[in-house]
Amino acid sequence: MCGIVAVAARREASEILLEGLRRLEYRGYDSAGMALIDNEKNLLLHKKLGRVSELMKAQAMEPHLGCVGIAHTRWATHGEPSAANAHPHISNQRVALVHNGIIENHAALRGEMIDLGYEFTSTTDSEVIVHLLHHFLRDGETMLGAMQKAVGRLQGAYALAALDTENPGQIVAAREGSPLVVGVGIGENFLASDQLALRQVTDRFIYLEEGDLVQITSASMQVIDLSGQRVERQVTRISEALETIDRGNYDHFMHKEIHQQPRALADALQIDADRRISAKCFGTGAEAVFDRVAAIQIVACGTSYHAGMVARYWLEQLAGIPCQVEVASEFRYRTRVQHPGTLLVTVSQSGETADTLAALRNVAEGEFVGSLAIANVDNSSLVRASDLVFLTRAGAEIGVASTKAFTTQLVALMMLTIVLGQRRGSLTENKARELTNALHSLPEFVQQVLELDPTIEKLAEAFINKHHTLFLGRGIHYPVAMEGALKLKEISYIHAEAYPAGELKHGPLALVDADMPIVAVAPTDDLLEKLRSNLEEVRSRGGELYVFADKEAGFANGPGLRVLQLPSCPEVLMPIVYTVALQLLSYHVALHKGTDLDKPRNLAKSVTVE
Ligand code: G6P
Repeated sequence: MCGIVAVAARREASEILLEGLRRLEYRGYDSAGMALIDNEKNLLLHKKLGRVSELMKAQAMEPHLGCVGIAHTRWATHGEPSAANAHPHISNQRVALVHNGIIENHAALRGEMIDLGYEFTSTTDSEVIVHLLHHFLRDGETMLGAMQKAVGRLQGAYALAALDTENPGQIVAAREGSPLVVGVGIGENFLASDQLALRQVTDRFIYLEEGDLVQITSASMQVIDLSGQRVERQVTRISEALETIDRGNYDHFMHKEIHQQPRALADALQIDADRRISAKCFGTGAEAVFDRVAAIQIVACGTSYHAGMVARYWLEQLAGIPCQVEVASEFRYRTRVQHPGTLLVTVSQSGETADTLAALRNVAEGEFVGSLAIANVDNSSLVRASDLVFLTRAGAEIGVASTKAFTTQLVALMMLTIVLGQRRGSLTENKARELTNALHSLPEFVQQVLELDPTIEKLAEAFINKHHTLFLGRGIHYPVAMEGALKLKEISYIHAEAYPAGELKHGPLALVDADMPIVAVAPTDDLLEKLRSNLEEVRSRGGELYVFADKEAGFANGPGLRVLQLPSCPEVLMPIVYTVALQLLSYHVALHKGTDLDKPRNLAKSVTVE
């Protein structure tokens, strides 16, 4: 959603703020702003519609200098993207504030503040907070006291950071429902929505708890918990090498991340020396929890939801465990009847998705035997709130459209299938070994797909002028088709829908004509012959087919039929291998169309608001 960076230092802060925003731009990119306090206690403000680069240009044209500052990159929720609605918001040229989240009672508070004489210059829900803060500061509160009183009036979700020209060395911040970390420096301290924003200045972080307030100066830091008590929060040192966030030799992060998959998949996979997968991969205590598991409920959003959909086939077919999968925004508000002994599995790249997090936090006492988070970001809110954790180790994913995070989630879910299947006795030792060996060979098969990049680039040309597409699959390849369709619509803006091929005749067949390309996920499996008949139904109605299949499936190019031949691989790997080909198809279609494919319009990588 939005990204926040704040700096209290003795050195110039603007460079750190702008670099932090650049690194956070995946969270939102419709407008950006930065406020600094200079040596004369003046508040200096730049706000720009558009990307962080626009803000950088404004700073280059008119440099604002100061050691204490806050900055923000926005993904609009309340109020259109505009310079006026960009953060920081200002009250009486004295207080500046940045906000990530949604304030649900903003309308009532706005009325109250107007009655108190405050003038609003934006249509955001956030501006009320800065006036509230000003109001309490004017009454003589300290910054922490004013923030404490202000957040006491808020309903909704927020991460906030504010500065005050009358308290020029300090920044106060608060979090509830939106992520915020403190970066601990030497003679300087920082705040950000994601540690990634601050990795160039520190490797020590404090992950704030829900309801925490914090005050930083260059020399000190103070955390106050929900009950108003001063608390010490643990400082975590991030030991892994500094993640580069440049595109290397690639034109886009998405392309780089697609090509990083052989490495990422190998890193995600945790196989013991004796070629076994241990329950311990899911955390200490996993064995005890797994022994009580009689059913699985997977909850996720977006691409991660599709990973759950694929896993349902594995968990039921291979591990013999009943499995339900639901999008988090529905799950969290539904009256549910849970099978006794159900394990709640949340799947999330970021570990911060608001709906997924709320789904986990809102479960009733005793509703589940435990919770397992499959996430890519260590110390994320989901990871910290779950009993068990599997980190997918895909490395930072910057492209908004998820690629390596999805395929590594599938590896995690297959590992879960193997572990649970063995513990329940549904999976024989031999079958478990066969699956594990197949997983071990996965990076090689993915590498073979990546070598088809130029072929897929050529194939993609056929889609450039199309407005609609259908993706078809059967069985486990139906969710693969769903993921293929999602990827294409996200980054190329071509309308794409996925259907289980058997459903074609119940409606979508009416749409089929020469203008609607149809992509079929058609590897050799038990349902191939059924799928082949469905594809004949399309062909006989003049539909143009693009069939992704292995050699054994026996498809050949012909009128209205183009085949992309993919490597023959073990059945368990097909969802991943075929997904990589579909990722490349979307990438090249979007590239041909010239869309901003790392930052598609209206979307954000990490959706930390409801
Ligand atoms: C956003 C992103 C998607 C992602 C979804 C869920 O919509 O654009 O790529 O799949 O959020 O995110 P999560 O971090 O929970 O996997």
